Amino acid sequence: MADHQTSDAFVAFERVQKSYDGETLVVKDLNLTMPKGEFLTMLGPSGSGKTTCLMMLAGFETATHGEILLDGKPINNIPPHKRGIGMVFQNYALFPHMTVGENLSFPLEVRGMGKSEREEKIMRGLERVQMGAFANRRPSQLSGGQQQRIALARALVFEPELVLMDEPLGALDKQLRETLQFEITHLAHELGITTVYVTHDQTEALTMSDRVAVFDDGRIQQLAPPDKLYEEPMNSFVAQFIGENNALEGVVKEIKGDLCVVQLDSGEVIDAKPVNVNKVGDRTRVSIRPERVEFNKSRLQEGAHTLKAEVLEFIYMGDIFRTRLRVAGIDDFIVKTRNAPDQERLRPGQQIDIGWLPQDCRALDA
Ligand SMILES: Nc1ncnc2c1ncn2[C@@H]1O[C@H](COP(=O)(O)OP(=O)(O)O)[C@@H](O)[C@H]1O
Ligand SMILES: [Mg+2]
Repeated sequence: MADHQTSDAFVAFERVQKSYDGETLVVKDLNLTMPKGEFLTMLGPSGSGKTTCLMMLAGFETATHGEILLDGKPINNIPPHKRGIGMVFQNYALFPHMTVGENLSFPLEVRGMGKSEREEKIMRGLERVQMGAFANRRPSQLSGGQQQRIALARALVFEPELVLMDEPLGALDKQLRETLQFEITHLAHELGITTVYVTHDQTEALTMSDRVAVFDDGRIQQLAPPDKLYEEPMNSFVAQFIGENNALEGVVKEIKGDLCVVQLDSGEVIDAKPVNVNKVGDRTRVSIRPERVEFNKSRLQEGAHTLKAEVLEFIYMGDIFRTRLRVAGIDDFIVKTRNAPDQERLRPGQQIDIGWLPQDCRALDA
């Protein structure tokens, strides 16, 4: 997806900073624009500023500097109930003394909607999340997954244009989480809702989102669609945080256009793509995905540099083989290969040569 101008953005953060104590910035110069209908995930470690950003967008916190715009208008000027924002949180408890139906009725009553229209919307809202038969239950009579479905239905019942979700599936078991991930993205796209979703789970972010903003230390480290984020990380933090990654450290010896030669600290030399290095002599951490490592020499480019490796461990995982190698002085270098009929199964103790296409090996910041 191309960059979006602030003018046609539905949500825009412009140079937003946030400090709670007047000293430390927990959000630093944040710029972000979202078109209408986008599903964007803020992904990052705990404390990186994700919830703070969501709270500022919802209007529960104010920015220390900068501006947040909703549909072109500064958000401070719009009273919360006119923002049309639905919210779902991990621990956003349903009102326990109300039935499911009453829980969904609440946001509609607040907006002054009449009884018959309310009833129709409640039924439609419950059916959307396959909970049509549960209107008269109380939250305590529902499982965790069912409660979270109701929380989702309540956030959507007044047909908001923007929905904010903060780790909504964090408390659920893996299988339920995966089912709900799928349902949430389907619903959001079907209803054309713009969604900002917060999680620290990278798989969740990759599978659900149109774009992912990777947060660390109050800054967006990279904002990109999932495939781009995984295949083209722009710095070492993103390469390490998203997916599995092999990292080797060294010094840039030569840069020729789209190629560079890196001398590893072990003394060996490899080919890489210069991504986040500027000049010969820079220290770099090169990043290679385990499934892009090649040990069949015939599949490498002529003249490609290779490294000597010793097989330490072979793990059979059914669909793939996971092999751990000692390479360039490190002993946790991982190679993943598909379980194809002609695929070689390496044995511990075996000595091999490994290599890769230079474009699959990214020279990043050290
Ligand atoms: N209400 C608050 N008062 C003071 N500090 C806060 C408050 N909320 C969050 N923080 C601090 O701001 C930083 C970012 O927190 P948060 O936005 O919750 O991160 P995340 O959601 O990514 O885990 C953390 O260092 C956290 O301790
Ligand atoms: Mg949080």
